[in-house]
Amino acid sequence: MARRKVSIVGAGNVGATTGQRIVDRQLADVVLIDIIEGVPQGKALDLAESGPIEGYDCKLTGTNNYADTADSDIVVITAGIPRKPGMSRDDLLRTNYGIVKGVTEQVVKNSPKCTIIVVSNPLDAMVQTAYRVSRFPKERVIGMAGVLDSARFRTFIGMELNVSVENIHAFVLGGHGDTMVPLPRYSTVAGIPITELLPKETIDRLVQRTRDGGAEIVGYLKTSAWYAPSSAIVEMVDAILNDRRKILPCAAYLEGEYGINGLYVGVPVKLGERGIEQVIEINLTLEERAALQKSAAAVKELAEIIGV
Ligand code: NAI
Ligand code: 2OP
Repeated sequence: MARRKVSIVGAGNVGATTGQRIVDRQLADVVLIDIIEGVPQGKALDLAESGPIEGYDCKLTGTNNYADTADSDIVVITAGIPRKPGMSRDDLLRTNYGIVKGVTEQVVKNSPKCTIIVVSNPLDAMVQTAYRVSRFPKERVIGMAGVLDSARFRTFIGMELNVSVENIHAFVLGGHGDTMVPLPRYSTVAGIPITELLPKETIDRLVQRTRDGGAEIVGYLKTSAWYAPSSAIVEMVDAILNDRRKILPCAAYLEGEYGINGLYVGVPVKLGERGIEQVIEINLTLEERAALQKSAAAVKELAEIIGV
């Protein structure tokens, strides 16, 4: 099989850790690209020098030149500024819009056949930006948020019940913001819905902690998270590169599904080698549907501000 190539734009906390996880799992050769000179080169060389110890032969390249990203299978966009204390994801909107627009233009020129995974915040508006600018088919422009938010929900459920997180599945839909929609009915421990295992007040507390999950980390680190975000990105990269057809919550461009039109919102999708192979429509209660609509309205507001 030909060697696969994943380029990561933004060699900061999320980007570099994503590169590390990809080579640790020997998924692909990795190109780290950033506007800061020296940082991607230094991090790529440092990671390459782990190879003999960790046992990977993946090629690592650090660069400031998009020519080195040519013909990537996947490009992960993490470029932008992260959230600082007191800053909402939405505060990042205008700065990161300019960055993601410019980056996407370069990505399209150099890797016209790639699948783009957008990570920069505010996530849903940024993936919509990449979709509009790239003019790629919607299947090949995907946003990462739901896998992370669901992992946080799974972690908190595991802590509460003192059970293995491997037993736990959870679904968080909607935008990656304060209006995200954790779905307790579809969140299970060994197949048992958590609504059968935990009282409503406890579930409400875990749901709120999940919604505040990003801010909780910012409170400690004074910048945003990268370990769990990079794990979430790599689960998506693996699903696409290895055609796993995993059902994962991702930001997808909706055209009528869930009654939402012309907007990126987090929903369950089947991820495989063609990117989003299918949007899975699950039954929602009136209350869940209303929460998803409210979340979509919040995404739409941001998309309209930047005109995407
Ligand atoms: P960071 O500051 O550590 O890294 C960002 C990197 O992007 C920096 O090295 C910077 O030089 C680079 N950059 C800025 N403009 C660029 C450009 N035009 N071209 C190439 N590189 C450029 O930030 P971190 O923590 O890695 O976060 C990156 C982004 O990901 C932020 O917007 C953050 O909010 C977002 N994020 C999203 C998550 C999600 O669930 N979707 C989770 C975690 C972070
Ligand atoms: C997070 O949820 C900041 O979006 C980032 O950690």
